[in-house]
Amino acid sequence: MLLRIDPVNQGGSVLLEDVDDLSRLSIVARSESRDATPWTFHQSRLGVMTHDGTALVDPEALRRMGDGRGGPDWDARFDRMLAAARERGWTAPDGRLFVHTEWEASTTHQEQVSPDLLRQVLGRFPTGVVVAAASGPDGPVGLACQSFVSLSLDPPLVSLSPARTSRSWPQIAEAGVFCVSMLTEEQVDVCSRFAVSGADKFAGLSWRPSPVTGSPIVDGCLAWVDCRIELVHPAGDHELVVGRVVDLDVRQGRPLIFFASQFAQLAQEESA
Ligand SMILES: Cc1cc2nc3c(=O)[nH]c(=O)nc-3n(C[C@H](O)[C@H](O)[C@H](O)COP(=O)(O)O)c2cc1C
Repeated sequence: MLLRIDPVNQGGSVLLEDVDDLSRLSIVARSESRDATPWTFHQSRLGVMTHDGTALVDPEALRRMGDGRGGPDWDARFDRMLAAARERGWTAPDGRLFVHTEWEASTTHQEQVSPDLLRQVLGRFPTGVVVAAASGPDGPVGLACQSFVSLSLDPPLVSLSPARTSRSWPQIAEAGVFCVSMLTEEQVDVCSRFAVSGADKFAGLSWRPSPVTGSPIVDGCLAWVDCRIELVHPAGDHELVVGRVVDLDVRQGRPLIFFASQFAQLAQEESA
């Protein structure tokens, strides 16, 4: 378990994370908030903390924080954790647990970036646009993505990054497969249709199932890449998804390009 202390967030917060992992108990705080951390901890009524981050944690207050979030046997496992801590001398005579604070490296002022500038700068990186789609339990699902990139030739891997807020992504993840359709410059309307959340995006759309995974291929697309999901890694407000390519095809055409928040077209003709 991990107690994360943040004196700045909402006037001071203490969150319990990794409730199910009773093999360890630590406190994590940011080193730039070192001075304010003991006071924030004190206000949470979990115990007391010295200025260097050594804390005495009331086990019953901790139990109340975690109760209901672990599995059915969590309470019994919590008792076993307390007994083990007592045996090892990690408790004070009054039963409170000794816990040390891990200070996370502070980010210097220079390392903080403005979200607006980040959007502006990264938006200047031109990309293609794809529809990533799968057959979900209730029919086909998909979303417009510019985060599609090639990753590895051997083995053949690609990646894309759906936002955590995406409503289609959990259904694609459940399917375990997806097909990416690279859009052409004539398919701006297809992109717009797949850039809305929640709607039935396939109604009236011409598409076919891919031969290997059965995931939707948007008719008229420039190329398609059919994949099995190999890895999903949390990445901030997105997930980084790695797909293993199992089938793919391409035809002549010109890609849809997204640059500086606008659709764009290639100036030069494609060479055959
Ligand atoms: C050109 C373009 C590129 C996009 N790229 C991504 C992307 O890489 N990842 C993502 O999560 N959303 C991306 N979006 C936004 C999603 O398509 C949009 O949030 C959509 O509503 C998600 O639908 P869902 O909630 O059904 O998954 C993009 C939108 C556009 C117009």
